[in-house]
Amino acid sequence: MSILKIKGGNPLFGKVEISGAKNAAVAILPAAILASKNHCTIDNIPNIEDIHCLERILEGIGCKLERNENSLIVDSTNISSINANTEDVRKMRASYYLIGALLGRFKKARVELPGGCPIGVRPIDQHIKGFEALGAHVTIEHGAVTVEADRLIGTNIFFDVVSVGATINVMLAATLAEGNTILENVAKEPHIVDVANFLNSMGANIKGAGTDIIRITGVKELKGCNYSVIPDQIEAGTYMIATAACGGEVTINNVIPKHLESISAKLIEMGINVTEDGDSVTVKSNKEFKGITLKTQPYPGFPTDVQQPMSSLLTVASGRSIINENIWESRFKHVDELKKMGANIKVEGRTAILDGVDALTGAVVKATDLRAGAAMVIAGLIATGETRILGVEHIDRGYPNIEEKFKSLGAEISREEK
Ligand code: EPZ
Repeated sequence: MSILKIKGGNPLFGKVEISGAKNAAVAILPAAILASKNHCTIDNIPNIEDIHCLERILEGIGCKLERNENSLIVDSTNISSINANTEDVRKMRASYYLIGALLGRFKKARVELPGGCPIGVRPIDQHIKGFEALGAHVTIEHGAVTVEADRLIGTNIFFDVVSVGATINVMLAATLAEGNTILENVAKEPHIVDVANFLNSMGANIKGAGTDIIRITGVKELKGCNYSVIPDQIEAGTYMIATAACGGEVTINNVIPKHLESISAKLIEMGINVTEDGDSVTVKSNKEFKGITLKTQPYPGFPTDVQQPMSSLLTVASGRSIINENIWESRFKHVDELKKMGANIKVEGRTAILDGVDALTGAVVKATDLRAGAAMVIAGLIATGETRILGVEHIDRGYPNIEEKFKSLGAEISREEK
């Protein structure tokens, strides 16, 4: 078991490189299953536990993988099983992308129901609605989803809720369906566009990703390609917020500033200095900032995945802040941990009311999920004294080299193995 130890109070200065986007990479690796000819070489893959987990899952069904630093070669030409049923599959959320990819390529899949962060009920009814509309028969038995189709036939699908997972999963299945598929009320996150671009590089015909309507013309087969994953919007947002909270000046490199606009806008509203330059953003803070009102929304709104890190910053803002969490109903589990450090927060349903305090104090706290873990790291960096964070395995699922990156900016953070 690992523990992160942080001695808070240092300002952050310097430059940090952002890695490839977790939520794009965890969809692109399963998407590589669709290539029946040649291998895919995928660059800018983040070195995180969710990716290692997917690598094992893909190898388990017969894909051949080769890793060279940040790039992965995936050869799916000789997949031997459409049945994904290991502990790794049950552990992570993105394993559900195997359903769409295997269904698209083999017209059949059996995949254990996915796990992931405990941030609310995580239904997959919209994924199932899409697969059924394409002609698949879907059953859920003994904790696994089985999908089967004689033929997949393109059609119009209107999603009831805007879902990242359902948009990607149905897009994966529809790339090899016969005829045209039109997906409406889809998610528009940068990783949706990245997955569509990856599929198009393999020979798919997908238009409109990044808008409300995606149009797919089915093709007969997909082939391997070379591709580079986009930078991680959420990791970048986390370092921007950490800099704002700790004070100092940090340039966050290898980002797409457009993807960060909703985060930059909120920091600027608080009185923090944020500037863009090409593929970097610089955050400058003198630790004086005011409280704000924040609502999480699908892209291009403020991302739910940055809500928890942002709440750590708001604990020490002057005045009152209000957060409305509109995507996940249980994404305030980190609040009890922040309270142990002296934060003044009340949660009522999906709303958190934060009254800024002068300082947080170091404590033993728990990362209850991935982004709650990032929130704890930021809280530890600004607190007086020492903070010890348990549950580090959640942080390792999504943040590459977190302690090295923060150390290089001047933070006192280290890992202890128990
Ligand atoms: C993705 O989860 C991300 N995970 C999450 O990031 C992120 O919080 C979320 O999108 C929203 O941006 C991955 O990409 C692996 P959704 P996903 O389907 O796809 C409801 C992180 O921290 N819904 O967009 O599971 C659902 O209950 C993780 O990196 C249905 O009702 O999210 C939720 O309220 C955590 N039926 C809303 O839609 C469905 O069939 C959005 O969920 C599917 C979803």
